[in-house]
Amino acid sequence: MRPATAADLDDVARIEHEQFSNPWTREYYAAELHNARSHFFVITCAAPDGLGDPAEMVVGYLLFWRLGDELELHKIAVAAAWQRLGHATRLMEAFVSAGRCWECERAVLEVRASNQAAIRLYEKFGFQAVGRRRDYYHHPGEDAQIFALRF
Ligand SMILES: CC(C)(COP(=O)(O)OP(=O)(O)OC[C@H]1O[C@@H](n2cnc3c(N)ncnc32)[C@H](O)[C@@H]1OP(=O)(O)O)[C@@H](O)C(=O)NCCC(=O)NCCS
Repeated sequence: MRPATAADLDDVARIEHEQFSNPWTREYYAAELHNARSHFFVITCAAPDGLGDPAEMVVGYLLFWRLGDELELHKIAVAAAWQRLGHATRLMEAFVSAGRCWECERAVLEVRASNQAAIRLYEKFGFQAVGRRRDYYHHPGEDAQIFALRF
């Protein structure tokens, strides 16, 4: 796991389009590289023979903002072929460690109410449901569940 760079943006955009029905654009992620409040990490693995740079392949990413003593988790995603291998767990461990290290009070996030994989991941790290936003998402329309974690 390491901070994202401009060289990672194609891989991030590819995973974003694979994993989300309303993907954020490559330009959005490019701007986040220069956003002082943003913390943007990728997780990489050795690529199998014949697939990209043999030394490194981006398989997932995490983007969050630090706003005073609060962290906002904006995105976490792992490419389909690399899911259920603990990559999101490593990203979340780093997220929680950062919050504790910076002595933040809490972390918050929104997630599609039907996204059981993400909800289970967040609950595993101690996040608790604290509210709901009606029709928050589009493509398709859906409520957001709000989760929070006290560090
Ligand atoms: C959610 C996501 C990031 C999990 O990534 P992952 O690398 O597969 O997760 P891990 O292997 O670290 O799994 C950690 C825990 O998450 C939960 N989990 C992950 N995938 C799950 C699934 N398909 N169904 C149910 N629980 C799941 C489990 O609790 C799991 O712990 P366990 O293996 O002990 O049961 C991945 O499914 C993903 O990229 N989804 C699409 C993007 C997304 O919805 N992101 C969240 C909103 S920004």
